[in-house]
Amino acid sequence: MRFNFLTAAVVAATFSACLVQPLAAQTAEQLTFIPAGGRTLLTNIATSKPPADELKALLTGKRSRDDWSSYLKAHSQAVPPLQSQSDKQRLTLADYLSFHMPLPANQVPANLTRTDWTRTLPKDGRDLALDNCQGCHIITVVVTQVRTKTAWLGTLSTPAHAVIKITSAEREELASYLELNAGIPIEQVPEELRASGATY
Ligand code: HEC
Repeated sequence: MRFNFLTAAVVAATFSACLVQPLAAQTAEQLTFIPAGGRTLLTNIATSKPPADELKALLTGKRSRDDWSSYLKAHSQAVPPLQSQSDKQRLTLADYLSFHMPLPANQVPANLTRTDWTRTLPKDGRDLALDNCQGCHIITVVVTQVRTKTAWLGTLSTPAHAVIKITSAEREELASYLELNAGIPIEQVPEELRASGATY
């Protein structure tokens, strides 16, 4: 009940404001409460000076999410950033790897130590949410919901959302990211992004 009421309030506040002026763009800093996606988690690993063969194996392997998750656990000795990951982060990274690896051969950097990873790695579910889910309502509407992947795919196919131009592969990835990382308690949302504190 509480979530539905909250959602209704956030959506209502957003839409009444929409008529008056466009939504103010959120700064990256305001959005740090939304958990890192696989691109960022993998960038953190790539820039931590891991053994080259370990990094190459992450970029060139082909596994299911569960298999990647076990693989990451098994390799945490050799790749220190993996040791400090929470279970949810490991699963988020495993999910990302299952969608994007192996990288096409011509996208695997020749020199792994001097790579601009932001350009090299494909977008993750968090990127897809920030790129596609802020145009009509604030991101709070999205990231405070607890839903299964199937339910998220349902949300994405409602009339309001079917028009969004993302591929079906991107919908899958976004739904998978949201299943793992949405459901953020409202207390963790910056005040200005809560319905009551909205300034738009
Ligand atoms: C083209 C405009 C538009 C964009 C872009 C948009 N939404 Fe919405 N969204 C709506 C409208 C309109 C509503 C309220 C009506 C409804 O519930 O369908 C809504 C409501 C919602 C709700 C609350 C209602 C529900 O279904 O539980 C969620 C969750 C949601 N959107 C998720 C998303 C996600 C995820 C994205 C990014 C992929 C997104 N929205 C992008 C128009 C949009």
